[in-house]
Amino acid sequence: MGVRVLAILLVVLLGDSTGDAATNPYDFSAIMGLMTDWQNAPPNWVGNDPCGNNWVGIVCNNSRVTSIILSSAGLTGPLSGDIGQLSELQFLDLSNNKGLTGSLPEQIGNLMKLTHLILVGCGFSGQIPDSIGSLQNLVHLSLNSNRFTGLIPAIIGNLSRLYWLDLADNQLTGSIPVSNGSNSGLDMLLQAKHFHFGQNQLSGTIPSQLFSSGMRLIHVLFDNNNLNGSIPSTLGLVRSLEVVRFDRNSLAGAVPANLNNLTSVQELLLSNNRLTGPLPNLAGMNALNYLDLSNNSFDATDFPSWIPTLQSLTTLMLEFTQVQGVLPVILFSIFSLQSVVLKNNQLNGTLDIGSSQGNQLQRIDLQNNNIDNFKQSTGNHSVEVILVSNPVCQETGAAGKSYCTIPQSNTSSYSTQPNKCIPAVCNSNQTSSPNCRCGYPYTGTLVFTAPSFSGLGSSTYFENLTGIITMSFQSYQLPVDSVSLSDPRKDSYNYLKLNLAVFPSEGVSFNWTSINIIGFVLSNQSYWPPKIFGPLNFIADQYTYFADVQVPTTSKNSLNISVIVGAAAGGFVLLLLLAFVGVYAFCQKKRAEKATEQSNPFVNWDPNKSSGEFPQLKGARWFSLEELKKYTNKFAEANQIGSGGYGKVYRGTLPTGTLVAIKRAQQGSMQGGVEFKNEIELLSRVHHKNLVSLVGFCSEQGEQLLVYEFLPNGTLEEGLSGKSGIRLDWARRLKVAIDAARGLAYLHEFANPPIIHRDIKSTNILLDDHLNARVADFGLSKPVTEGERGYVTTQVKGTMGYLDPEYYMTQQLTEKSDVYSFGVVMLELLTARRPIERGTYIVREVRVVMDKDKDLYNLQGILDPAIGLGTSLKGLERFVELAMRCVEESGADRPTMGEVVKEIENIMVFAGLNPKAESATTSASYEEASKGYSTDPYSNEDFTEDGGGFPPSRI
Ligand SMILES: *[C@@H]1O[C@H](CO)[C@@H](O)[C@H](O)[C@H]1NC(C)=O
Ligand SMILES: *[C@@H]1O[C@H](CO)[C@@H](O)[C@H](O)[C@H]1NC(C)=O
Ligand SMILES: *[C@@H]1O[C@H](CO)[C@@H](O)[C@H](O)[C@H]1NC(C)=O
Ligand SMILES: *[C@@H]1O[C@H](CO)[C@@H](O)[C@H](O)[C@H]1NC(C)=O
Repeated sequence: MGVRVLAILLVVLLGDSTGDAATNPYDFSAIMGLMTDWQNAPPNWVGNDPCGNNWVGIVCNNSRVTSIILSSAGLTGPLSGDIGQLSELQFLDLSNNKGLTGSLPEQIGNLMKLTHLILVGCGFSGQIPDSIGSLQNLVHLSLNSNRFTGLIPAIIGNLSRLYWLDLADNQLTGSIPVSNGSNSGLDMLLQAKHFHFGQNQLSGTIPSQLFSSGMRLIHVLFDNNNLNGSIPSTLGLVRSLEVVRFDRNSLAGAVPANLNNLTSVQELLLSNNRLTGPLPNLAGMNALNYLDLSNNSFDATDFPSWIPTLQSLTTLMLEFTQVQGVLPVILFSIFSLQSVVLKNNQLNGTLDIGSSQGNQLQRIDLQNNNIDNFKQSTGNHSVEVILVSNPVCQETGAAGKSYCTIPQSNTSSYSTQPNKCIPAVCNSNQTSSPNCRCGYPYTGTLVFTAPSFSGLGSSTYFENLTGIITMSFQSYQLPVDSVSLSDPRKDSYNYLKLNLAVFPSEGVSFNWTSINIIGFVLSNQSYWPPKIFGPLNFIADQYTYFADVQVPTTSKNSLNISVIVGAAAGGFVLLLLLAFVGVYAFCQKKRAEKATEQSNPFVNWDPNKSSGEFPQLKGARWFSLEELKKYTNKFAEANQIGSGGYGKVYRGTLPTGTLVAIKRAQQGSMQGGVEFKNEIELLSRVHHKNLVSLVGFCSEQGEQLLVYEFLPNGTLEEGLSGKSGIRLDWARRLKVAIDAARGLAYLHEFANPPIIHRDIKSTNILLDDHLNARVADFGLSKPVTEGERGYVTTQVKGTMGYLDPEYYMTQQLTEKSDVYSFGVVMLELLTARRPIERGTYIVREVRVVMDKDKDLYNLQGILDPAIGLGTSLKGLERFVELAMRCVEESGADRPTMGEVVKEIENIMVFAGLNPKAESATTSASYEEASKGYSTDPYSNEDFTEDGGGFPPSRI
């Protein structure tokens, strides 16, 4: 391939003049191949070192490209077969680039390491290549919302690790392939949890061989196709199922009688088919929320008595199902019920909706039945009852009754409201965010293909969802100010659609990298949304307001031509050209930086000028940037002791000789002025030996720096992972636990006003030279002011994995949320695992494995070997029990931090330790931690659960 050869040539040429390129030359040439075919690759794709120069969307490991994540990047053109050269590639996410067209190149099958292939919402067409069957490591395949045609390749059945298969919303034809003696088929996908094939033109019968009891499927979405024949009874063998959509096909025959074996199913839609025989008896399907059997040809029947026994039902749709007789009043006493649609049946007698229905009931639509009387009890006027075309509406005087008119289609007009602020007036195309800041939001449509509810009028669903989406972004430390949802609506496929807008927290627009990751998070539904929303797609609008660099107007085709010319001219022209592109990108970047600075609200808060707003400090002092530069030797690399999404931490030496840790927020992760001030004030006010003290701060020239006392032994996370070279045995872990618990108990019970930390995690617990633990980072802390003691309603903040589920559902913050996070840290102390690792959640895992009848509660398999397995682990069981009480579902069932402190003290006494003693110095324990146990807890990635979709940590 000519382009590749040229690209290698280019690397060789430039490699000589600019030193060693970090990127493997074959990977570089493959990327050049992609870039050549795209009209507008990301603007910083300049030079010859994608790995070394942090090209947008590219992640490397050593010199090899391991991820390409370019969601919503506005790419146009075909996907070059050069992609197949990236032999170390694991993630490929090009979702929501509608301009990506042409067929999927066969060479995609060469990517033997690929685990995630996500091409949602692009413009790809043609057949899905059979070579896809070679991707033995693939766990996630999303080709939905493209224009693929032809058959579903049977060879997909070879992908034995696949858990997510989404082919929905294409133009696929033919039948669903199953294996026979010589060919593979989808029945072989025993690890799969998701079959999303809706909105295609699939035909033929649903093969009975497709389903078996060994499968783990939870979502089977075959809706909106041309499938015929009957529903195979083997479906009833897949006990894991939660969502089944077979609606809008041509299915015939009787519904298999064993369907009610599927007791986990929450959404069952069989509507708009040609099903016959008796209405299926679904008694026992107690998880069922949404049931739609409408528009079939079932035998005439009285209203089934099993329906009112389904106590989770929110939605009952039985239109045109030949139901007759009187509707039992007990139906309306189902507490969760929201909608009942029984139009076009032969119901008769009196409609009595009783007075005991739950407060969720919104709509009862009984148009076109034989009902001759309506008994309305008082106090239920919010329920919309429709009895048009029933005898009761043919009486005299009926015309005036509200239930005898069809209400204006009153779709919910929900939209996220301003968050206790007055919407800003914004210029040009900017909009005011829920926090009333102007900006260019990233927008798109969320499509829920099988929600469990129908009451779109109740805004709690959407309010909770807003919080959950915001939280997902925050857990990836994305610069998101807030998100808004609007205009929930059902489309003709019975999908719930919502407009989503995501607002930037820095400047007025997002940069490329942020858009990429936001797009990635939205198209990768590992942790959100909660089950009630069911499966989801996100279709983005193109974002055209990138903050960092504008989409260059020069077409890459001209580069392509220049490359050829340049190569012919011995590379000289090429060098010139690349230099030119480099300068262009540099200028653009400078311009963007300037713009960010101008829109940074913190610029206005200058301690030299303003006095009123100046933070009220106790014991902490203000430093100038000049001073801090001096103390850190101009922020020298050698003084850097940590880094993270927030920025970098440097060691500094004050003129007195005291060591300090200086946390310097990086461009792009600055807190708002208010949060920064909040943190300074809080930190300066609390003093406890188990809390990290603030020495001072600096806010100047658009920089935010915090100066802390220096803790030489790093974070607990580093300690547990072996990075810091300290061995933490059982006794030391108990000491760490008691220290951190005391620090936290102090914040809750002795600080005045009390403080909820909100972000307890192992990276916020630091160890001093005596291995005393101290709690750090009050950036998110919230004082509990008088009058709101008990709980604080607030925007959800915190870190995924540590976050109290009750808090994020209710948004009501209490001290018990910290207790939950602390419980997670306790489990981390036991296992040395991150809370969410390899797709499993530590709390769930311990709960599953734990067996109180066994030695060490059966946890040997997940305990960290470095804890001293084989030595006496006295008190460990009590420690586990305490941790599990801390992570109880309900805050009320968790102990207070004071109680936690007491119990850990008891455990220490039980283990023969003195809870009041200080630790010995650790100078003797700086041993090569790597010797005894694995230093890399993140190796061995295993994507077998839904949680397989971690984005690579740094992009
Ligand atoms: C599944 O359903 C069939 C038919 O209703 C029944 O005979 C069988 O016992 C059920 N199986 C289980 C495991 O419940
Ligand atoms: C309702 O209809 C059923 C049959 O369709 C009939 O047997 C019954 O008498 C009717 N009841 C009333 C109250 O009209
Ligand atoms: C605002 O949006 C319109 C269309 O959406 C576009 O034509 C116009 O150029 C935009 N204005 C700015 C300043 O971006
Ligand atoms: C949303 O949160 C509220 C509390 O604010 C809770 O009562 C409700 O159950 C939640 N709604 C859903 C659908 O989870």
